[in-house]
Formats: sequence, C-alpha cells, structure tokens
Amino acid sequence: MSDILEARNITKTYYLENETIDVLKGVDLKVTKGSFVVIFGPSGSGKSTLLNILGSLDRPSDGQVLLESVDLSSHSDSQLSEIKNKKIGFVFQFHHLLPEFSCLENVALPAFVKGMPPPEACDRALLLLDKFGVVDKKNRLPSQISGGEKQRVAVARALMNEPLIILADEPTGNLDEANTNKLLKEFIGLKEEGKTMILVTHSLDIAKVGTDVYNLREGRLYAM
Ligand SMILES: Nc1ncnc2c1ncn2[C@@H]1O[C@H](COP(=O)(O)OP(=O)(O)OP(=O)(O)O)[C@@H](O)[C@H]1O
Ligand SMILES: [Mg+2]
Repeated sequence: MSDILEARNITKTYYLENETIDVLKGVDLKVTKGSFVVIFGPSGSGKSTLLNILGSLDRPSDGQVLLESVDLSSHSDSQLSEIKNKKIGFVFQFHHLLPEFSCLENVALPAFVKGMPPPEACDRALLLLDKFGVVDKKNRLPSQISGGEKQRVAVARALMNEPLIILADEPTGNLDEANTNKLLKEFIGLKEEGKTMILVTHSLDIAKVGTDVYNLREGRLYAM
C-alpha cells in the first residue's frame, strides 16, 4: 500500500538563551494509508513536537515531511494552512477551542473556512457533537464545559472536514475510562473507514490499539 505521509530524517532543536535542546535527532517514519500509528513515549520525549511537524503546524529544523509524496517544505505558509484545513484533522493536547465561540461554532468553523454553506456546516457539526455525546452542550462556551467534554468537542472539530489523516495528541488525557474506550472505538472505526490515524500517548495501554506502534526515545523512533 502507498505511503500517505513520510518523515525523512526530521530534526528539531529549540534554542533558548543559554541552552539548545535537541528534541528530535533524526526521525524517519512511513505511514501507510489506512493504518493506525501510535507513537508512545514519556513526558518530554518530543511527541507533541513531532506530531506538530507531521501535521504541518510547525516546521522541522532539518529533514522533510511528505504528504501524498509532496514535500511540505516546498509550500508557503498560506498553502500549508489550506492543506491543513482540507486534509488534516488535528486533536490538540490542550484542545485549543476558541473561547468566544460556542461548541457548535467551534466544530463548524473549519467548514465555514472551507466555504461550506453555514446551514450545512451546522447540520454536520450537530451530528458530530451527537456522535461524541456532547450535543446538549452545543450552545455553551468552552469555559462552560468540563475538560473531557472539551476534548470530545475538539475531536468533533477535527473530523468536520472529513480529513484524510487524523493526528491526535494525547486525546484521552482528560477522559474517564468509559469515554476513553468510546473514543478509541471511534478512532478504530475511522481507521476501518479508510482514514489514517496517528496518535501520540504516554500510555502503553492506549498504544495497544495501534497497527503500527513506535517508541519515541532520545530523539529517535523505534518500532515496537
Ligand atoms: N518552544 C519550546 N522551546 C523550548 N523547548 C521546548 C519548546 N517546546 C517543547 N520544548 C521542550 O522539548 C521537549 C519535548 O517537548 P514535547 O512537548 O514535544 O514533549 P511531549 O513528549 O509531548 O511531552 P508530554 O507527554 O508532557 O506532552 C521538552 O523537553 C520540552 O521542554
Ligand atoms: Mg505533548
């Protein structure tokens, strides 16, 4: 099967005043279409850093990311934003819902940006909120719902534009066991529909759902 996403020798160094931090030291990864990749590693190992680079939210210090065989470094920031909106669904570690918008608006927003007529976007957003058990919170602001509910709204938002790839950064971090299992089931269902999943976590239990599991350690990825 073809690779939908490929990372080639990715490095990332952060420069602070008196310190340079080599977080990624040469990461290679091939993601096959329809696979469920899990990257497992302890806190501070660079999981969010790597996921942000794979999802074109950040650029590597060196190396390349190829999405459907196209090198993302060849794109301008505005081209990258368009690709992100259309092809990639990102579930952030700290959800990043927009505080001044309702849950419904937060979920529908990526479709508004893409140009979907608002009534259609709202209908789809309601279906997704319902799928994740938070449709009754549709008119609340993010500050008026719990952490786990915010996380579920953020998952609904990531799915709004039917992305090819879903990148999820510790998406079950705020969920109880029942909701963790429910969300993982939904993710497995998305994989079965043909979507590609990449999830990062520090939980070995969650890593078990992956078809391709890697350990991120000392700046490098190791197949598990
Ligand atoms: N903007 C930044 N500037 C400097 N150092 C950073 C920056 N962002 C992250 N780091 C450092 O890079 C390392 C990796 O951070 P990252 O957030 O990728 O870890 P993580 O594996 O996602 O951790 P967690 O499981 O706690 O979310 C950490 O040591 C962190 O302190
Ligand atoms: Mg992180």
